[in-house]
Amino acid sequence: MAPAKVNLFLEVHAKRLDGYHELETLLAPVDWFDTVYFKDDPRGQISLWCEVAAGSHDRKRGGRVSIPEGPDNLVVKAIEALRRRAAPTRGARLGLVKRIPAAAGLAGGSSDAAAALVAANHAWQLRRTTEELAEIAAEIGSDLPFFLGPGAAICRGRGERVERVASLGQLHLVVVAPPDGLATVDVYRACRPADSPRPIEPLLDALAKGHLDKAGRLLTNRLQSAAARLSPWIERAEVHMDQTDVLGHQMSGSGTSYFGLCRNATHARRVARQLGTRGLGRVRAVRTWG
Ligand code: C5P
Repeated sequence: MAPAKVNLFLEVHAKRLDGYHELETLLAPVDWFDTVYFKDDPRGQISLWCEVAAGSHDRKRGGRVSIPEGPDNLVVKAIEALRRRAAPTRGARLGLVKRIPAAAGLAGGSSDAAAALVAANHAWQLRRTTEELAEIAAEIGSDLPFFLGPGAAICRGRGERVERVASLGQLHLVVVAPPDGLATVDVYRACRPADSPRPIEPLLDALAKGHLDKAGRLLTNRLQSAAARLSPWIERAEVHMDQTDVLGHQMSGSGTSYFGLCRNATHARRVARQLGTRGLGRVRAVRTWG
């Protein structure tokens, strides 16, 4: 099972010489899952099948985003990278059942790839440490290493330097995933790094103390205004979220999905029902996981 994530805090610092931006972000996994299948292939080949679960908007044809089954899929890239380093003769038949919306800032593809790395490490009996897997994971995508461990984390660098946080408490959220996504690269390109970056500590402190109202006011995502210039869905989600009584709301990652912080599960379900009739895309009440 590969969970989605949301960014409760995302501050963009300077652009680096390698083209990436220096980040500080608070990521929390949520209980919205893809399923990743891994089977050893004694012929030494890597293959992938991918199925979009019934009821989701992402369809392989004629839908929102097509999920590649070839070498462009992050799962295949990650397994190929592990094989090159550690197990050149091994093969795998990989399968994906997609439920997490793609190109939505929920990192479904990264989560799938991290889960596949862990599965391969086990099935191929490679005994690589999490740190070793994280090195390979970071080559494939900035937010892959986060998914190699449990629970929430502050991620820095380009997102690959992971520091777990224990004291977040369980959070209840409503996530809106519009029918159109955005490419991460486009959103970063449109984003101007912060002149005076916001600190993450006040939000961490509010969450650790269970001060949800305060935490709601401290949610931050520097990429949101850039994404809103590229997709009309961001402002639409913002306007509708404003009409609810969530404690705070913002875009996740580089969008287009958008979430609101709720008091508890009942509150989250009520807000999800309220937003579910507005034509905003998929709406789901979730809780932080792990
Ligand atoms: O590493 P990942 O594949 O997730 O990044 C996709 C793109 O997003 C990068 O090529 C880069 O343009 C942008 N990005 C960035 N700074 C980051 C992470 C991603 O500029 N910290």
